Amino acid sequence: MRRWKIDPKNPDGACLNEAAEALSTGQLVGVPTETVYGLAADATSPEACAKIFQAKGRPHFNPLISHVESAEAARRHAVFNADADALAQAFWPGPMTLVLPKRAESAICDLATAGLATVALRVPAARAMQMLARQTGRPLAAPSANRSGRISATTAQDVIDDLGPWLAGVLDAGPCPVGIESTIVSCLEDTPCILRPGGLSREAIENVLGRACAVSATPGAAEQAGPMAPGMLRSHYAPEAAVRLNATEVQGGEAVLAFGPVPPAGADRAIAFVNLSPDGDLVEAAARLFCALRELDATGADRICVQPIPETGLGEAINDRLRRAAAPRGPSVDRSLD
Ligand code: TXA
Ligand code: MG
Repeated sequence: MRRWKIDPKNPDGACLNEAAEALSTGQLVGVPTETVYGLAADATSPEACAKIFQAKGRPHFNPLISHVESAEAARRHAVFNADADALAQAFWPGPMTLVLPKRAESAICDLATAGLATVALRVPAARAMQMLARQTGRPLAAPSANRSGRISATTAQDVIDDLGPWLAGVLDAGPCPVGIESTIVSCLEDTPCILRPGGLSREAIENVLGRACAVSATPGAAEQAGPMAPGMLRSHYAPEAAVRLNATEVQGGEAVLAFGPVPPAGADRAIAFVNLSPDGDLVEAAARLFCALRELDATGADRICVQPIPETGLGEAINDRLRRAAAPRGPSVDRSLD
């Protein structure tokens, strides 16, 4: 497995060539995007996409996001309505994925879209990923580069720890600046619907649309392969430690995930302490979230308690991921998520 160190602003051509060659021959490559690291494969090759599911240990063939170099490239694969046009214009390249009707002539394979008539597309802002898509001349399917149900990878080392043996290599561009997955917006109905909150806030999206969008009624709807009982939260983004939310006081044996200038009562007793943003900045907190969870988990604490985080801006996405990290686990819970 190769580890290609690159400058995120000016990625080395020789490294990109090797990575593009690996992708073109059906191998898997760990790739940096502005949101999280992706596990990339040629989205036009069912054999290559099958390796993604195998490597992630994903029992269901959930649909994958295909990454393309530009909005023009995206138009070759999907039909854009006026809302999709406005969102693409405003937020691509960037941390937003659009779910759109798939064109019959799209080369994206059925395994990448799980046989749906729709396709999830994203134009990433990360230079390396854009250049790879251009160089291979193919859309690149890339779910987050973590084993199924585990914390998403925001550094190349996370990718190697989780998936190293499966990869031809990983492009190491340092930590991901946004740190949380893209916001998924479905533009299939009259009212666009947010299927997964993410690195682009709902407020920003609604500003551009000029009206409110729907928000998927089922938490984790974007991640499930089949029907889910109402109100059930899927365990996902799960550290080894249990997770306790909205903690204002630290209990014995806990590690603390703090937010804002005032730590929770009893923080001096904590086994470990990480503050997502002492200034209470939600963008900074999103960027640190997955890394902080991994760091606290590595201390071996039985439980991680999390201070309350406001449900505004990127707080929606942060709280979504934390609720899923805290969701009940065990045999009755389907952890077949990405
Ligand atoms: O930021 C991101 O989005 C990262 C980076 C690597 O780009 N990718 C990512 O992909 O999070 P993944 O596979 O972990 O999440 C893709 C989500 C899944 O929840 C899947 O169910 C949803 O997109 N999805 C894909 N195609 C869809 C479709 N046609 N309709 C509804 N949801 C879809
Ligand atoms: Mg994922």
